[in-house]
Amino acid sequence: MSGTAPTTPRVALVTGTTSGIGEAVVRHFCELGHQVLAVDFNPDGAEVAERAGAVFFQADLTDGEACKAAVAEAMRRFGRVDILVNNAGIQHVAPIEEFPEAKWRQIIDLMLTTPFLLTQAAWPSMRENGWGRVVNIASVHAQVASPGKSAYISAKHGMIGLTKTAALEGGAQGITANAICPAYVKTPLVDNQIADQAKLHGMEEQQVIEQIMLKNAAVKRLIEPAEVAELVAYLASDAAGAVTGSSWNIDLGWTAQ
Ligand SMILES: NC(=O)c1ccc[n+]([C@@H]2O[C@H](COP(=O)([O-])OP(=O)(O)OC[C@H]3O[C@@H](n4cnc5c(N)ncnc54)[C@H](O)[C@@H]3O)[C@@H](O)[C@H]2O)c1
Repeated sequence: MSGTAPTTPRVALVTGTTSGIGEAVVRHFCELGHQVLAVDFNPDGAEVAERAGAVFFQADLTDGEACKAAVAEAMRRFGRVDILVNNAGIQHVAPIEEFPEAKWRQIIDLMLTTPFLLTQAAWPSMRENGWGRVVNIASVHAQVASPGKSAYISAKHGMIGLTKTAALEGGAQGITANAICPAYVKTPLVDNQIADQAKLHGMEEQQVIEQIMLKNAAVKRLIEPAEVAELVAYLASDAAGAVTGSSWNIDLGWTAQ
C-alpha cells in the first residue's frame, strides 16, 4: 500500500511509542518522511524515538493537561498536526466482581478519554489546514468480548463510537477518522498476558498461544507490529481520503465466524 504512491510528508503525533505497535508506527512514519512527535510516559521512549528519527515528548496521558501539552509541543516544534494515532494502551484482567475501580478508571481514562482529548486538541490544526487523519488503535475486543477484560473491552467499544462521531464531524473539513481492530500482536502487552495466563492455567506459554490466543483464529500465528503499522500508514495517507468512520479488522479471521 504505502509503496504504491509517493507519500506527502506530514506531521504526526503518535502515542504509546516505546514498544510494540506504537514503536512500529513511528519507525514506519519516519521511513515515509513524516515528522513525528512520539509521546509516551516511559522515558526509555526517548532513545526509541531518536533511533527512528522522531522527536520524543514524555507525558502520562492519563492526565488531561498532559494531552493538551503533547499537542501544544507538536504545534511548537512543527507548526501543525496532520495525523493523530491514538495507540497508548494497557490491560488488566480480572472478573467484574473483583475488578479494581482504580484500574477501571485508569483504563477508561487512557484508552477512551485520552483519545477524545487528543482529537479535540489536534482538531483546530487539522480543520485550519483542511486535512487531517485520526487513526485509533482499537482491538478485536472493540468487536467482541472475552471474559475478564471488562474495562479494556468497554474502552475499545467506546473508541469505535468516538471514531464514527469524529468521522461525521470531520467529513466536511477534510478530516477522516478510522479504527484498526487487531487480534493478538507480538508486543510486550501480549508477552505479559502469555506469561500471566500460563501461570493462571498451569500451561506452557506455547499452549497459551495455541489454545487460548489463537483459538478463534483462522490464520494460526500472532500478528507482527509492522503489519499494523502498514495499515496505519494507509489510513493516514492521501489515498485513504474516502475512507472514514470505518473499523479495519486485522484479526486473523477471528470475527469471520
Ligand atoms: N498487542 C496486541 O495484541 C493488541 C491487540 C489489539 C489492540 N492492541 C492495542 O494496541 C495498542 C498498543 O499496544 P501494544 O500491544 O503495542 O502494547 P505495548 O505495551 O507494547 O505499548 C503500549 C505503549 O503505551 C505506553 N503507555 C502506557 N500507559 C501510558 C500512559 N499513561 N501515558 C503514555 N503512554 C503510556 C507504554 O509505555 C507503551 O509504550 C493498545 O491500545 C492496545 O490496546 C494491542
